[in-house]
Amino acid sequence: MAILKIARMGHPVLKQRAAEVEDPSAPVIRAVVRNMIETLEDAEGAGLAAPQVHIPLRVVIFQIAPARASEEGDEDEGVALSVLVNPTVEPLSDEMASGIEACLSIPGMAGLVPRHTHIRYGFQTLEGNTVEREARDFHARVVQHECDHLDGILYPMRIPDLTRFGFVEEFSRAERQRTEQADA
Ligand code: NI
Repeated sequence: MAILKIARMGHPVLKQRAAEVEDPSAPVIRAVVRNMIETLEDAEGAGLAAPQVHIPLRVVIFQIAPARASEEGDEDEGVALSVLVNPTVEPLSDEMASGIEACLSIPGMAGLVPRHTHIRYGFQTLEGNTVEREARDFHARVVQHECDHLDGILYPMRIPDLTRFGFVEEFSRAERQRTEQADA
């Protein structure tokens, strides 16, 4: 097991289309996933795509804690650690919603990103089985964010209004001032 180095925005590995995994049950893929899980736990993120750790393959992992799901207004109780090999995403409605996103490849920053609120996604498991799931809201957002990484897309590329993109520390200060002004 190993904690892998995370590529940051600007690195070529984050800009390319990642390759399909030919054999999801291959031991090398299992080893990649094991290291990705360890890296994600160390970084305390919600999700991680293989290109973020310099592996240009179509593999993502994510996990949504129950507390986070309820904080985001989702009705579900979080999502257990999921490993998606060769995932596909299909919107199930035209409805979009904006929400704050951050990314381990863009440390310290966050932005307001519109995403489809209701999707279906399919993927292969490490056993080679095919799985389909439906997702809404925060769950759908995380899947779209992670799968974008496989096509060389980082969330700032999805932000229509770049005044809503910045450093988390500055964001929270601005939010704090706005709250104080509202209180005054
Ligand atoms: Ni990301």
